[in-house]
Amino acid sequence: MCSMTANELRSKYIEFFKSKDHVEISGRSLIPENDPSVLFTTAGMHPLVPFLLGEPHPAGKRLTDYQKCIRTGDIDEVGDPSHLTCFEMLGNWSLGDYFKKESIAYSYEFLTSKKWLALDPAKISVTVFAGDENAPRDEESAGYWKANGMPEDKIAYLPASDNWWAAGPTGPCGPDTEIFYWVGEGLPPVGSNKGTDKDNWLEIWNNVFMEYNRVDEKTLVKLPKQNVDTGMGLERTNCILQGKTSVYLTEVFQPIIKTIEKLAGYTYGSDAEKDKSVRIIADHARASVFIIGDPKGVSPSNVGAGYVLRRLIRRAVRHGRKLGIENTFLADLSVSVIENFKNAYPELEQNAEKIKQELTAEENKFGQTLRKGEAEFEKLLPNLAKNPKKEIPGRVAFRLYDTFGFPIEITEELAAENGFTVDKVGFKEAEKKHQELSRTAEAGKAKGGLAEQSEMTIKYHTATHLLQAALKRVLGDHVAQKGSNITNERMRFDFSHPAPMTPEEIKKVENLVNEQISRNLPVTMEIMNLEDAKKSGATALFGEKYENNVKVYTIGDFSKEVCGGPHVTNTGVLGKFVIKKEQSSSAGVRRIKAVLE
Ligand code: SER
Repeated sequence: MCSMTANELRSKYIEFFKSKDHVEISGRSLIPENDPSVLFTTAGMHPLVPFLLGEPHPAGKRLTDYQKCIRTGDIDEVGDPSHLTCFEMLGNWSLGDYFKKESIAYSYEFLTSKKWLALDPAKISVTVFAGDENAPRDEESAGYWKANGMPEDKIAYLPASDNWWAAGPTGPCGPDTEIFYWVGEGLPPVGSNKGTDKDNWLEIWNNVFMEYNRVDEKTLVKLPKQNVDTGMGLERTNCILQGKTSVYLTEVFQPIIKTIEKLAGYTYGSDAEKDKSVRIIADHARASVFIIGDPKGVSPSNVGAGYVLRRLIRRAVRHGRKLGIENTFLADLSVSVIENFKNAYPELEQNAEKIKQELTAEENKFGQTLRKGEAEFEKLLPNLAKNPKKEIPGRVAFRLYDTFGFPIEITEELAAENGFTVDKVGFKEAEKKHQELSRTAEAGKAKGGLAEQSEMTIKYHTATHLLQAALKRVLGDHVAQKGSNITNERMRFDFSHPAPMTPEEIKKVENLVNEQISRNLPVTMEIMNLEDAKKSGATALFGEKYENNVKVYTIGDFSKEVCGGPHVTNTGVLGKFVIKKEQSSSAGVRRIKAVLE
């Protein structure tokens, strides 16, 4: 076994496959292109899906690269010595060129040859697909392994749950052969393999024989060509090459950990709980730097990839406080990350300032409420202890989120530390009710608003916006809101108009509103200064006194109004809009009473 750094391993891998006529392609953004089904690039093959499905690749049929990936499925496990959310995958592909024979031979040569990684063959075992109704038992791969010198008893035949790889519920997939390294004491016992010992064999490389395309749950079709898609975990392989027991002990993480040690005045390895916090911070800081520093950089937010980023940063901040770091610290850690990875990922250095700014801004935002939220949580504990289900009610978890900025996952973590679970369904319901409110609270703008904010009143509130826009379209631009009154059961809307509405006009307005409801229009909010709001064409009672900055709610292409909110996030939830009455309110002002059914 030869000792090398992760940077050297990355280069060696590429060099090896280039020597086997592969073309190096560059890894892609962490934010997938043209794939709304996932938030992040989760595997090296991800950007190659169109080519695995048959699209010719401009660089040819033999490709190799390294790819940064984010997987958050195991995020709760991060903190133990091995799990990561951000990792690098080394990959090689055959797009209808070589297949099982060469793929296995290349992998074995790279791993064991003195010229390359020089791993001890006695510490390597493999798995192959055991076969099922979709594809036969993979005797072919087993045969090639044996031909390369793998003893029969180091080959385990495992079912699809282990040896069938697919990037998602549909798309290219196939049986795989996986390569494991012995991480137990000494040499593996005779006959040991992944089938007999799940714990001491660590997966380092996965060779997928992608010859199928899953079209839907029931339909699997053969691809026009037989492809190979392999992925090697860089951090893990680097770790075993260095004979370390944890990826966090390698130079991939040590510079970050050293910075954490300095900031916290703590030496890694002295306390199990604190070590866990150090690992969480190290992983999450690295992941956050990669996400913000990506060419398609993401900022913390409450949705999608931005929410994942927010969660990572806030969890890191909480664990920083647990270690006694009181000041903002993530920008300091970003320096260590960027230094370590700038050669492989130059975008990190190019975006260094932005990374620091985003991290610090989010850290400040959360830092202000974290302590208060934790104190609030402490206060809840005596009452919670009486709760027989040992469950934190959804509305309580939601309040921690809404008022103190605790992502639900942080509340879950706090709950688990105190022996509780969280009612996630209840949380979702509370979130739904107050979606817009929470957004404003996050932006630090929770001011005023409606006195009553039940789910129904929020819906009625959005309906008034639709109604006003519809009235303007049907009756003319002179229509201006003169007042409104909302309860759980109905809405009342007063507006300027010189004459009673005709039955046709009423029907038209009603239909127009219902049309917007059935279009499932998104309701979005932006904060802008009043001048810009006016310029944007937003409706407002401009005679009113507004703050300098106002919120502008936009409903698809239909309505734009200056308003305090809250609102539903999509018109689809409103139900059926029915005008019950149109009457006079005062001179030149009409009144509509309407309900949502
Ligand atoms: N697609 C496989 C994996 O991600 C091999 O690249 O493990």
